[in-house]
Amino acid sequence: MPIVSTTEMFKKAYDGGYAIGAFNVNNMEIVQGITEAAAEVNSPLILQVSAGARKYAKHVYLMKLVEAAEADTGLPIALHLDHGADFEICKSCIDGGFTSVMIDASSKSFEDNIALTKQVVEYAHDHGVVVEAELGTLAGVEDEVKVSAEDSSYTRPEDVEEFVSRTGCDSLAIAIGTSHGAYKFKPGTKPQLRFDILEEVSKRLPGFPIVLHGASSVIPKYVDIINANGGALVDAIGVPEDMLRKAATMAVCKINIDSDLRLAMTAGIREHFQEHPEHFDPRQYLTVGRAYIKELVKDKIVNVLGSDGKA
Ligand code: G3H
Ligand code: 13P
Ligand code: ZN
Repeated sequence: MPIVSTTEMFKKAYDGGYAIGAFNVNNMEIVQGITEAAAEVNSPLILQVSAGARKYAKHVYLMKLVEAAEADTGLPIALHLDHGADFEICKSCIDGGFTSVMIDASSKSFEDNIALTKQVVEYAHDHGVVVEAELGTLAGVEDEVKVSAEDSSYTRPEDVEEFVSRTGCDSLAIAIGTSHGAYKFKPGTKPQLRFDILEEVSKRLPGFPIVLHGASSVIPKYVDIINANGGALVDAIGVPEDMLRKAATMAVCKINIDSDLRLAMTAGIREHFQEHPEHFDPRQYLTVGRAYIKELVKDKIVNVLGSDGKA
């Protein structure tokens, strides 16, 4: 099976009340850890690449790694551009073999967001590629762009029908209180998501796939390992897993996870060096980092996303 589109995956996920994990990939060990986990529990996957990942690893390496993951497992795997900032990067990924792109014009005005999204949709659809767009802005850090909590804003449900019909986008990322990075909620407060907004959006867009960004849970196990081995992750708080499970049973078909992968891999590597400071063969510590990623992703698929057995 070649790398697939998300269209079929989303339809099945919507109808089945589960979500597909969209995991950010930056190198071979991350791709392998995620894919090995998905293969063991027979789950479809979205592997996504940011502008930063393309800069770090180069488009062609990531493309070939994802093709290798598919060839190795036979799983349905989609290759997606995460947070495309302009038409050029979307075009480059469409021309370069991605099956899905995100145009993130969420920081622009409503009209400018529509205009840019529509331009990308036209080019993408002409080339058989699907497009994720975003309405509302999340707080947090993406690439070098930092959005403060004050500048973030929830999606306005009354905008979504016009946005989707005028742009022709295939899925929509909405802002309901998640944010990027490891520090999502104020310490001492109870994490909350605006499920009322999600509910209202899905009523207005029946059957339409919704995407949740900033959905890492910042799992204490990994934070504790990092902190016990020289780290300083103070007050790191993620999205509670029960909230993600609830979102997955609703209209959310794609759940984006990056920070949890970073934390798991770093925890494995730090722990390894604590026990074996004498090691200098990268295969020794990367084997552990990859195993930690695999453990994390398997747990996400089975206990949070519910996409096991759906490949
Ligand atoms: O939403 C952003 C993702 O976590 C990607 O992060 O731009 O540092 O690769 P990055
Ligand atoms: P996290 O930082 O919560 O992992 O979010 C990742 C993301 O939304 C990638 O687009
Ligand atoms: Zn994101």
